[in-house]
Amino acid sequence: MQTYGVNELRKMFLDFFESKGHLVKKSFSLVPHNDKSLLLINSGMAPLKPYFTGQEIPPRRRMATCQKCIRTGDIENVGKTARHGTFFEMLGNFSFGDYFKKEAIRWSWEFLTEVVGLDPERLYPSVYVDDQEAFDIWNKEMGIPAERIYKFGKEDNFWEHGSGPCGPCSEIYYDRGEKYGCGRPDCTVGCECDRYMEIWNNVFTQFDNDGHGNYSELEQKNIDTGMGLERLASVVQDVDSIFDVDTIKALRDHVCRIAGVEYGKDENQDVSIRVITDHIRSVTFMISDGIMPSNEGRGYVLRRLLRRACRHGRLLNIGRKFLNELCETVIEGSKDGYPELEEKKDFILNVISKEEDQFNKTIDQGLGILADMEKDMAKNGEKTLSGENAFKLYDTYGFPLDLTKEILEEKGLGIDEEGFQAAMKVQRETARAARGVTNYMGADVTVYESIDPSVTSTFVGYDTLTHASKVTVLTTETEITDALTEGVEGTIFVEETPFYATSGGQNADKGTIVSEDGSFAFEVKDVKKLLGGKIAHIGCVTKGMVKTGDTVKLQVEEENRLLSGRNHSATHLLQKALRTVLGTHVEQAGSYVDASRLRFDFTHFSALSQEELKEVEEIVNKAIADALPVKVENLPIEEAKKTGAQALFGEKYGDIVRVVSMGDFSIEFCGGTHVDNTSSIGCFKIISETGVAAGVRRIEALTSKGLLTYYADLENVLHEAAKALKTTPDHLEEKIAHLQMENKELRSEVESLKSKLAKDAMGDVMDQMKEIGGMKAVMLKVEGVDMNGLRELGDQLKEKMGEGVAVIASVADGKVSLMATATDGAVKKGAHSGNLIKAIAGLVGGGGGGRPNMAQAGGKNPAGVDDALKKAEEVLGEQLS
Ligand code: ALA
Repeated sequence: MQTYGVNELRKMFLDFFESKGHLVKKSFSLVPHNDKSLLLINSGMAPLKPYFTGQEIPPRRRMATCQKCIRTGDIENVGKTARHGTFFEMLGNFSFGDYFKKEAIRWSWEFLTEVVGLDPERLYPSVYVDDQEAFDIWNKEMGIPAERIYKFGKEDNFWEHGSGPCGPCSEIYYDRGEKYGCGRPDCTVGCECDRYMEIWNNVFTQFDNDGHGNYSELEQKNIDTGMGLERLASVVQDVDSIFDVDTIKALRDHVCRIAGVEYGKDENQDVSIRVITDHIRSVTFMISDGIMPSNEGRGYVLRRLLRRACRHGRLLNIGRKFLNELCETVIEGSKDGYPELEEKKDFILNVISKEEDQFNKTIDQGLGILADMEKDMAKNGEKTLSGENAFKLYDTYGFPLDLTKEILEEKGLGIDEEGFQAAMKVQRETARAARGVTNYMGADVTVYESIDPSVTSTFVGYDTLTHASKVTVLTTETEITDALTEGVEGTIFVEETPFYATSGGQNADKGTIVSEDGSFAFEVKDVKKLLGGKIAHIGCVTKGMVKTGDTVKLQVEEENRLLSGRNHSATHLLQKALRTVLGTHVEQAGSYVDASRLRFDFTHFSALSQEELKEVEEIVNKAIADALPVKVENLPIEEAKKTGAQALFGEKYGDIVRVVSMGDFSIEFCGGTHVDNTSSIGCFKIISETGVAAGVRRIEALTSKGLLTYYADLENVLHEAAKALKTTPDHLEEKIAHLQMENKELRSEVESLKSKLAKDAMGDVMDQMKEIGGMKAVMLKVEGVDMNGLRELGDQLKEKMGEGVAVIASVADGKVSLMATATDGAVKKGAHSGNLIKAIAGLVGGGGGGRPNMAQAGGKNPAGVDDALKKAEEVLGEQLS
């Protein structure tokens, strides 16, 4: 059999499928785009999910790629066996609702047997157990005898990974010959040993998994195929494993040269050689896609791989920095298929070098401390490192948990992971509490402080909204970095920017920063002016990656800028109008302008009258209607002062100031963005006038779009109100007047009915009036009246009686309120409300007391009310006797 190199096989595959009408695309980034279900691209189909589901239209219904993939699920086994790796390339041909099983099967066979020249007698297809259609294609159309076609269940022949498109599959196995076999008599296709190797997977993608195991039929039937390039190469080159194929062997040999060891001599050494060989490939490709080492997400995967490689270098006694040399070999071996490796070489080397340095420092320190901890453990006869100590290593010395674990495992020791997690949680909570209020950038405002002070930015956005410039500094929320990738929040600094940063009361521009070729996009959410003339574009990478030194295109969102300019210009007109109407004591005391509104604070001693407000509005609207040209000049300060321009009180200005004038009407020192002519402000309306401090008033106002929105909202309210009153907006006033009148009439009717009722009730009560000890007395039980009501009732009763005593009990919600009141005459005769209540409260399960003329109590026993009132008669009788 003729043998081919990795780079040749890749090309043969892509050429073959191009000849079958496929659009050949270069590999997508390892960083998933718009797919939260994956940390890293793990198969050829992953970046194409929207084409499978029909969410997006593919550029062609047949596509083929060689996709860089990373799978870290088996990371513990990498190195330990020759079969596992984290990085691989996947060859794939895809059909999005175009061809289906028949063509996919035929072409896979044709490629393997005719193009690559594998012996058909050594190839065995397998199908999903229920997929008769696929079986028949292999058997009847391709002429493969039934006994050579294997049927497997869901475990082997149903492909899915994360959420998204999935389906049954048909795999092709290659018999590598007895020398790779396990020798068992039942060894055949499907055996775990290395003899029958699965090389091709045809997935018939017809379902969509929502991520919770719910499958729905896809509208279109698709084909997703995958073939590990390195694995195919190992078959074609008839070598033991992926670590022996041409490009990877070159890398493996390089590791051996650096370490001064030979592969295949010592199993432990082989493990380390394989770990390094595999990991340096992942690391190189990940960084070329802009992933940066960090403590989270894919940045952490990268950091972990890189650090594992470093550590195995130590196990091989390499004793110096070595990853960069290997990285160059990776680039050399793969640049054919991935030119970006060569383009970003310096960047990749730089990132690896820094991380290796940092890790070496960490590891030296950490190993020493861990050794001490191990000694203590030995002394105390312990086999498990405490969570507290593991956390201390991690937190104080930056020593990763998995590394501590690995080192201990090698010595048969363990780690209290639960204890570690608990310590971590405590620390997080403490940190969160200590942080209190955070700004947008989280706790670390200091990240900006660590930027080289020589970095500055120039604002070029007065006349343009789009500008190309070079990236000078990038930061994440916590540190300066050399690259930002998709999904990451961070800050971009460039040499020249059209973005207006928040200042002079005007809110920052919004917009995007993109690369010329469209592969990168960043949404600018805020722009801040920092000390030292730096302009920070804060936001989030929505696509691709950006590196320091890249040239990017900065695009300010036009409408946002335009509307902010209108509001800002209106603020100048407002200031002038206020000075005209109220007097020249009016000084600006603060302002805020964004796309939706404006706010202006100014010195003035009293609230504005309606007339004054109206006059101010009219003056501003006239200045708008007059279509005054807006002129901007940069003048030396002395000259500027002579123009009589309004300056901000107490503000320090530089030697050259920017002066903005609107016709002869207004002239101000101002750095903001403005309209060219006042007419484009459209219209102006004050919506509120309030006081904010002694002698400082605040006006909020709207213009153009903001005002139209405001009116539209008002109109809505009006229509809703009219609808609720079953009339039209024109008749609303009339309708309200009518309702008010009706309401007034009804109210007086209610009042008269109420007083009639009260009179009637009072009449009844007076019938129950008693004579006790020569005094009039009423003992009354009512329902649902509160203490205030009782007092009122008591007053009415006293009025009716002239002189006398009233005791009233009310029951509401299972609670009792008691009240006694006596007129002055009754008190003189010996009546004492306080003592009376005290004596009877116990009967309703409560307590209370009060003065002679008035007392109250509460209780919890409604059943005792009658007894209490009876007792009240007795007590009163005694008081008056
Ligand atoms: N997506 C399928 C796989 O990775 C082809 O095996």
